[in-house]
Parts: sequence; structure tokens; C-alpha cells
Amino acid sequence: MTKNHHAVVTLASLTLAGCLRYPHASGHLVRTAAIAACLADLVGLDAADCERIRLATPVHDVGKLAIPDAVLLKPGKLLAEERQVMERHAEIGANILAGSSNALLRLASQLAHHHHERFDGTGYPCRLAGREIPLAARIVAVADAFDAMTEARCYRPGMTDDDALSIVSAGSGTHFDPDVTRIFLASIPQILHSRRSAEALIAAGSEMAVVARFYGLNRGALRQIPRRDHA
Ligand SMILES: [Fe+2]
Ligand SMILES: [Fe+2]
Repeated sequence: MTKNHHAVVTLASLTLAGCLRYPHASGHLVRTAAIAACLADLVGLDAADCERIRLATPVHDVGKLAIPDAVLLKPGKLLAEERQVMERHAEIGANILAGSSNALLRLASQLAHHHHERFDGTGYPCRLAGREIPLAARIVAVADAFDAMTEARCYRPGMTDDDALSIVSAGSGTHFDPDVTRIFLASIPQILHSRRSAEALIAAGSEMAVVARFYGLNRGALRQIPRRDHA
């Protein structure tokens, strides 16, 4: 087994662990990864980097494993102090993934750490600005925000694609890297195509089957874990 295979199994396991924590997580994670990889390609990264971004993106929120239910599963807006608790997921996720010499796991740690930085330096957890933010994290920030806005939550319906696209556009240069945003907005058909292929995968089966197929693993590589009762 190659070193990279071990890294892929680790990412798949952590993705699945994240999926147990809150309902319907796998859809967001797999769609965001597909959109991020497509956007990375459009930005001009080579095929190997795009594939690394695709594989590492689903664990960007793995730090949410450590966020208490009262905050993570709260229907509706978070209070200021709850938001602070929620924001810890970036650093926690980076720490869960930290310490490996494997390039894929290092990228995953970097994405978990920096996917909520903002281009103008007002994001979290490090308040990095502009090109201080790793390019992969600037790409995932756009993909993550677009998918999160269009996804239905228990307390609100999903936004239309057009509304979410206008918000991405309005965030260019403040929230998002203006170059990445320009390329994203100029390539909507490709972006939506990548999302459709992720949706086809998501429709294909159980969360475990989706994660296994996303990572190209046979189902024996992952074990079914009973879902927590969120009632
Ligand atoms: Fe996040
Ligand atoms: Fe996310």
C-alpha cells in the first residue's frame, strides 16, 4: 500500500466521522470538493494539485466534531458567544490533521485551518489577508460559501443559485480573492456541471457508500458506524 493510499483512507475516515456529527453533511462536503477541484482547474493549477484539493476539501469542517450540539445543531442564528465557539472548528480541524509529513494531509490541515479567512484580513482564525492565505484555501472559501448558501438547512430553505452567485460577486475583494471570484463567475456552466456530477454520486447510496466512492475505495475499506440519534 502506498503512503498516499494511507492518507486517502485517513481522509475518508475523517470525512465519514464528520458525517456522523450532523445530518446530510456528506452532500455539502462532496459538492464543495467537486466545485473546489473544478475551480482549481479553471484557476490554472495542474491536475495533481486539483486532485489533491478534491481529496482534501471534504475534511475542511472536521473540527466541527468538537463543537457542542447546542451550537452546532442550533436552528437559527448564533449569538456572539456561540459564534466564537463555532469558529473554533477551523483551528481544531487543523490540529486534528496536523503533524503529518504527507503532502495530502498537510494540505487538508491547511484547508481546515484557513477556509474561513477573508481576503480583506477580517476572517478567522489567523486574520490572514490576500496572498498570505494559501491559494487552495482561497479557492475552497468560494466553493464552500457558494455551496453552503444554496444548501437547505433545517431552519431555512437553500438560496437560489442566482442569489448565491450575487453574494459571491458582492464579496469579491473583501470576502473572496477577486481573481478566483472572477474566474468562478466567468465559468458558471463548468461549476454547475461539477456540482451535478457530485449530486449524481450523492444520490448513489448511503453516506458510507458515497464517501467510499468519492475516495475510490472499495466499501470494505470503511466500516458502517451507527448514526447518532439527533432527535
Ligand atoms: Fe467551516
Ligand atoms: Fe463547509
